[in-house]
Amino acid sequence: MQNFIINSALDMHLHLRDDDMLKLVGPLTSNTFSGALIMPNLVPPITTKEALLGYKERIKEACKEDEFDAYVTLFFKNDYSYEFLEDIKDEIIAIKLYPAGITTNSETGVASMDVEVLRPTLESMSKLGIPLCIHGETNGFVMDREAEFMPIYESIAKAFPDLKIIMEHITTKEAIELLDKYDNLHATVTLHHLLITLDDVAGGMLNPHLFCKPIAKRPRDRKALLKAALKAHPKLMFGSDSAPHPKHKKESCGCAAGVFTSPIALQVLTQLFEEHNCLDNLNAFVSLNAQRVYNIHPKPKTIKLVKKDFVVPSIYKYKNENVVPMYAGETISWSIED
Ligand code: NCD
Ligand code: ZN
Repeated sequence: MQNFIINSALDMHLHLRDDDMLKLVGPLTSNTFSGALIMPNLVPPITTKEALLGYKERIKEACKEDEFDAYVTLFFKNDYSYEFLEDIKDEIIAIKLYPAGITTNSETGVASMDVEVLRPTLESMSKLGIPLCIHGETNGFVMDREAEFMPIYESIAKAFPDLKIIMEHITTKEAIELLDKYDNLHATVTLHHLLITLDDVAGGMLNPHLFCKPIAKRPRDRKALLKAALKAHPKLMFGSDSAPHPKHKKESCGCAAGVFTSPIALQVLTQLFEEHNCLDNLNAFVSLNAQRVYNIHPKPKTIKLVKKDFVVPSIYKYKNENVVPMYAGETISWSIED
């Protein structure tokens, strides 16, 4: 039987939610990943030290069966003082910026992406060495939102050359091309954007479980993302953007955006890298690149994958929470050994 070892897997873009949903999805990441960068878009978003420390504790409790590092983030605000950021700096890995209303729970994000408007907080972050994660979409036509955001990434990268910027969940060829233009630009890419295009979401019967922000794009985009991931481009990190929503919020009129992938991520990544004869690059893509970009040292955790069928559960449940994973009911050719 064929085996493959993944060491200290890191998911650099993850939604763990709160309360019972956290208790349901937290262990589905912490049992296989060594650490994850946790998004702050709770209701309300995390903007204070008290909220941050409380959330960290709840994550720790939910994932207490596992050795797991939760790298928490703060929700970007224009008016954070230097003193506040200096005080909170050692508790966070980065600050996440959302344009207002661009995705789930981002209503209180920034109203303007003008560098001058953002300057006070960005200047402090740059001085304090706090990385900036960005949800890079304008509010233009849905298929063009990310490509339209490229000049905004460029303006921030140029204005703050010492600020480490991460373009989150990139979905376009344009974003891949921009990666190499500025030393301080990095990116995460999800599993689903390596696999699907808009056709899989809406080309046949509508599949709400593949509906997410940014929306999956064209074959040319998927090809560019996959090429960069398979060669483990040194500035590209795995970030699942696993974003669970209750089943009734996905299978409904007004479907919530987000694909839930955490329980299948490592198996499907192994299958994908094997299919392309690139397994040698998988550890760089799911761990080493992130260790270098963020200068983190995750707990050693060895996950053994075996080439054996894994039938993806149709649903994951805890108390009143239930969530449908990507590939529900389908068979993947790699499993995680117990
Ligand atoms: C995310 C969520 O549900 O919180 N949704 C999504 O479609 N990716 C938010 C986000 O990362 O955009
Ligand atoms: Zn996200």
